[in-house]
Amino acid sequence: MTDILDYKEEGTFIIEHEGVRYQLPRHCPHRSGRLDHGKINLHAKTVSCPLHQSVFRFDSGEQVAGPSCGKLKVAITTSTKCD
Ligand code: FES
Repeated sequence: MTDILDYKEEGTFIIEHEGVRYQLPRHCPHRSGRLDHGKINLHAKTVSCPLHQSVFRFDSGEQVAGPSCGKLKVAITTSTKCD
């Protein structure tokens, strides 16, 4: 199951996909667009900034499109769910 969860700490948000949790910065490194309001593509594993449409891989933080601004800092953990 894939879920997009609430913020877990100030300044970051979580994307959970296929049992892995990706913690990403809430703000884009370009001009602080709200990545947590961006479009998430689970197939491509990307998140798009709604302000100037930069696209980042949420599994590595690499920027794949948009105005040059560097990569995102991503923390990756395995999700632990209790059934
Ligand atoms: S603020 Fe995100 S691309 Fe400009």
